[in-house]
Amino acid sequence: MTDGGSSIPAVQALLRALAAGRDVAELGTGYGEAAAAMTETARSVVTVELDPDRAAAARERLAGLPNVEALEGDAYELLRGRGPFGLVFADGGAYDWEAIMELLAPGGILVKDDLTPGRPVVGDPVREFLLRDPRLVAAEILTTPTTAAIVAVRG
Ligand SMILES: C[S@@+](CC[C@H](N)C(=O)[O-])C[C@H]1O[C@@H](n2cnc3c(N)ncnc32)[C@H](O)[C@@H]1O
Repeated sequence: MTDGGSSIPAVQALLRALAAGRDVAELGTGYGEAAAAMTETARSVVTVELDPDRAAAARERLAGLPNVEALEGDAYELLRGRGPFGLVFADGGAYDWEAIMELLAPGGILVKDDLTPGRPVVGDPVREFLLRDPRLVAAEILTTPTTAAIVAVRG
């Protein structure tokens, strides 16, 4: 994430690779930059944005791409009961991890970016869930010298 609306190029490259051949869900479309990257390789992408102006900009950005569905509204509401997905990019909202796990297929990959490297796990609810939940095998990686992401795979 750069200005709150788009992921950085390194994260888009990571997502483009991880999306290959998978059905993808993105919570928080922003302006559609990461969704556009993922559509290059994914089988399908469904992405949801709460903010109407951003959702409209993303629809314009993604128009004409055959494998993407860009929805406007609350991602947790609109994605409930859908899936399972082979890749979930959790990039907006309150991070209801149990709801996100419901979306994730066995062997599916969950990505959370925009972390500050070097922070302790204990006391950080994002790291405590993604790095310690027994249903996940996860690694924290640097995406730039000053930013990190967690890639977690559901066993
Ligand atoms: C960091 S931005 C998304 C960037 C985008 N994923 C990308 O990488 O290009 C986070 C977005 O999540 C949206 N958001 C926040 N809560 C949400 C929710 N409950 N459902 C859907 N979108 C939400 C915000 O409006 C914001 O545009």
